[in-house]
Amino acid sequence: MEQEQGARAKRVVLAYSGGVDTSVCIPYLKREWGVEEVITFAADLGQGDELEPIRLRALESGASRSLVGDLIDPFIRDFAFPAIRANALYEGRYPLSTALARPLIARQLVQVARELGADAVAHGCTGKGNDQVRFDVAIGSLAPDLKVLTPAREWAMSREETIAYGERCGIPAPVSKKNPYSIDLNLLGRSIEAGPLEDPMAEPSEEVFAMTRAIGDTPDESQVVEIAFEQGNPVAIDGIGLDPVSLVRRANELAGLHGFGRMDIIENRVVGIKSREIYETPGLLLLIRAHQELESLTLAADVVRYKRQIESSWADLVYQGLWFGPLKQALDGFLDCTQATVTGVVRIRLHKGTAMVIGRSSTSDSLYVPSMATYGSDDRFNHRAAEGFIYVWGMPIRLWAATHRKS
Ligand code: ARG
Repeated sequence: MEQEQGARAKRVVLAYSGGVDTSVCIPYLKREWGVEEVITFAADLGQGDELEPIRLRALESGASRSLVGDLIDPFIRDFAFPAIRANALYEGRYPLSTALARPLIARQLVQVARELGADAVAHGCTGKGNDQVRFDVAIGSLAPDLKVLTPAREWAMSREETIAYGERCGIPAPVSKKNPYSIDLNLLGRSIEAGPLEDPMAEPSEEVFAMTRAIGDTPDESQVVEIAFEQGNPVAIDGIGLDPVSLVRRANELAGLHGFGRMDIIENRVVGIKSREIYETPGLLLLIRAHQELESLTLAADVVRYKRQIESSWADLVYQGLWFGPLKQALDGFLDCTQATVTGVVRIRLHKGTAMVIGRSSTSDSLYVPSMATYGSDDRFNHRAAEGFIYVWGMPIRLWAATHRKS
């Protein structure tokens, strides 16, 4: 079916990373599926790659036009910051560094396709990952009329065969043929899979990490950092106001220096399989931790508790590719409403792979009332009122016990 779709597409916009798979997609779409024109789009998400060589590689691989887009600012502002406000951790742990980038790339692909009059978009994802789900579903929800071509899901070539196919089409084999890992990276972090990591008992070797130091190489002196938030958004580190991108870069540096932000987990993919994932997301995890703490100080108890459920649903749906769906919109309404009072500062001590919260304050929104909390002489809490409260609170369980604990 896809093959027929491919044959009917004339002009296709392909999401392009510069890697072998997406490079091979270019001649494959043209030769096997009869696509007339492949336009590539490469996104700068702060992954640190030089984009000009990538742009040229697409042209060498047969693209008729090769576009690059700097998406770092919207990535952090419109995708990462909402995730921080949501304390989004998939299955309680993974801060969605890869997942958050996909709806943005999808949105950009659709926009480029519209501008250039393309009748399809394409990506190089395989058939067992989450990213294909995210791209297909996001594109389908933004532009239901646009075809999505997925050559790498159809071609059934092994890695070696893909490289050989590329070489026959003039695409040079990757320099680092030996690198056994599958790595996805952007400014929020890195995800490392495959190769020796497929054995869930095999400890990741140090070479897989790039943003975080090994504990043995971190400073012996700890470091205290102060992160300031305004209405749920991080705005300053150590008293220095920073734009969103600079702030995430700074958070990455600080946390990475102290070896904080590594993770080794078994994760449940959308397609039903468990996979072993290594992540390093130093800045993002640091910011989420600080944000959670500030919420503890500034949100009412019932709002915090209720928000934890919303956060988990939000993380699930972002992981599952439903960014542009109606539930996301509805949950965002709740989340945005809660963030109006999340303003203040959180102090964290970084040391040897840990980030320990050691202080928090909010001049405008703190719900911590010293005269209520204190055990000192200025205590204003009415201790005697507790008696009546506990009498009523404990009533149901005492009545239950009277019936069921007759000895
Ligand atoms: N398991 C992570 C996620 O689903 C990382 C995916 C990495 N993607 C990749 N193409 N290597 O978000």
